[in-house]
Amino acid sequence: MDSSPRRVVGIYPGSFDPITNGHLDLIERSLRLVDKLILAILVNAEKRPLFTVSERMEMLRDVVGDRGRVEVCTFNGLLVDFAAQQGANLIIRGIRAISDYEFELQMALMNRRLRPELETVFLMAGEAYSFISSRLVKEVISLGGNIHGLVPPAVESRLKERFLTKESARI
Ligand code: PNS
Repeated sequence: MDSSPRRVVGIYPGSFDPITNGHLDLIERSLRLVDKLILAILVNAEKRPLFTVSERMEMLRDVVGDRGRVEVCTFNGLLVDFAAQQGANLIIRGIRAISDYEFELQMALMNRRLRPELETVFLMAGEAYSFISSRLVKEVISLGGNIHGLVPPAVESRLKERFLTKESARI
């Protein structure tokens, strides 16, 4: 058995539309486990995201800052193929509640079938973030609710800008 220490490269994939404080918590937790962390934004034409891929990339970079161990990129196609291409050996996904588990397990097992050498780890988001999702944050702000503390300040400004502009455009 090879006893030389292996460099752990984790990939944390997602839509990040937009990044929330829950994602950020997961990023911090992941950095305790890996040598390098790749934040991979899915380019998914089907999902009709609020923010463009470049906007999401900018926000992630803004929020994560200039950390040598974190790389932000985008991907198309199968996650496992992209992960292998990037030299990642760990897929990281967050579990907020048991309701997330069923689908996450399905994806993890499918990914394992596609590339058995890639391991998936589930990290539990901090309790304070267990109810936060990008979808709900967008819904709340679009209906005039307060999203302070749910997303990083830079993202809050972008969301306000987006929805306030829409509001004023309608008047
Ligand atoms: O933030 P999300 O939308 O929950 O992330 C979902 C994501 C990006 C992890 C998932 O849709 C994905 O990996 N898509 C890439 C296509 C793929 O590999 N599909 C097979 C997954 S089993």
